[in-house]
Amino acid sequence: MTTETRKIGLSLGADLCWPICYEEILRQLDLEIEVDGQRVRFDVQRITIEPYNIRQPCDYDLIIDRVTHWYHTSREWIKKAMLMDGLYTYNNPWSIQSMEKQTTYCAMAHLGLPVPETWMVPPKSYEHHDDLDTTLQQYAQMFDLGQIGREMGYPMFMKPYDGGAWKGVSRIESEEQLRATYEESGTYLMHLQQSIEGFDRFVRCIGLGPQFLLVSYDPAAPLHDRYQMTRDFVNDDEASLLRDMTMTINAFFGWDFNSCESLHRDGVWYPIDFANACPDSQVTSLHYHFPWIVTANIRWSIFCAATRRRMKRNLNWQPYYDILDRDLPFRERLAAYAAIGHREMETERFEEFCDRHLADLDQVTLEFFASDQARETVRKKVAALFPEHELDEFANLFWDRIQSWRHDFAEQHALQADGS
Ligand SMILES: Nc1ncnc2c1ncn2[C@@H]1O[C@H](COP(=O)(O)OP(=O)(O)O)[C@@H](O)[C@H]1O
Ligand SMILES: [Mg+2]
Repeated sequence: MTTETRKIGLSLGADLCWPICYEEILRQLDLEIEVDGQRVRFDVQRITIEPYNIRQPCDYDLIIDRVTHWYHTSREWIKKAMLMDGLYTYNNPWSIQSMEKQTTYCAMAHLGLPVPETWMVPPKSYEHHDDLDTTLQQYAQMFDLGQIGREMGYPMFMKPYDGGAWKGVSRIESEEQLRATYEESGTYLMHLQQSIEGFDRFVRCIGLGPQFLLVSYDPAAPLHDRYQMTRDFVNDDEASLLRDMTMTINAFFGWDFNSCESLHRDGVWYPIDFANACPDSQVTSLHYHFPWIVTANIRWSIFCAATRRRMKRNLNWQPYYDILDRDLPFRERLAAYAAIGHREMETERFEEFCDRHLADLDQVTLEFFASDQARETVRKKVAALFPEHELDEFANLFWDRIQSWRHDFAEQHALQADGS
């Protein structure tokens, strides 16, 4: 039996903490897996930025990409390698480039997900362009912003059609404020969206391949407390609904890794932001949940690299529209959409693979997150984000939360958490 090495690349920007943990846990696992009659080992490298000949072969099997949404050299190199060298990348850079928040609202509203009432309005001002005046004079209709506000009702949110990180997001309470905010919105192309007032729960569902983590989220809390550590904030039916929504979104848009925000009010879960194909993975935001992101990344990337998972060359939306045509009750329809995702992401095969080949991962992870190296990594990330005088306080806070995770995780999985 021959031994092959599969090469995994990390395409990183400011990510500091999870890559160190990912690399170290994999090093300790020292995997040698038998797949399809072959022994497979893994090599992890960080992708560097340099000039390239478009015909220069790429020898990576899989890249975990975290910069495509803003760094074009890496984006184009990855696209080239996907076209020419059969590279598997998460997430699909074409899909990130072309699927804005607006597209995701439209597609999911059409499939029946309860996206709140949403309008798009032309921007207040424009970058100069030779044809701009002629185009606007001929075709731009005058419109009454107040009328849209009256139809939608207040409060509402104004937010960029392609937004992220709360940039340009405003909560608007009145027509006067709507007009003033629009005046100041500059060249942003904006949505107006009905606010889900009085929601009793806000949940982020992170999907990584066929793995899901539901986290209760408090948008009003300071950054380090937004992801909450509470449990049992959804019942089984709700958890299954939120997972099916996330799976539907991710499979529809070809995203392996995405986070879906939903608000609950009066028995309905409203998805409000689910074009987040570079989810926050920092220990400084995720703290207690951080080990989940690291291990979910290890499982999915190793599975994809080991089995030589093929990149879907094209997105295929027709099956979702076919299900829509069947006029099923919503919950059944959503389950049918999600089933497409489970087929595409090979959920069953993935789970078998993890049971068989990654059985040691939980224990190695538990031990790693008790180590000096893990502690140092947390501190390093805190040092990069917090002022010097808060370094000790926050490094200890995040570390303590990870230790709580270790305790809870060990208990749930009947593992040994001692030895820290
Ligand atoms: N329709 C809405 N109802 C209630 N709150 C909202 C709504 N839209 C946005 N928000 C609030 O504004 C925040 C930022 O909006 P979001 O759409 O998530 O933008 P971004 O893509 O920048 O994260 C949300 O996390 C939520 O707290
Ligand atoms: Mg958001």
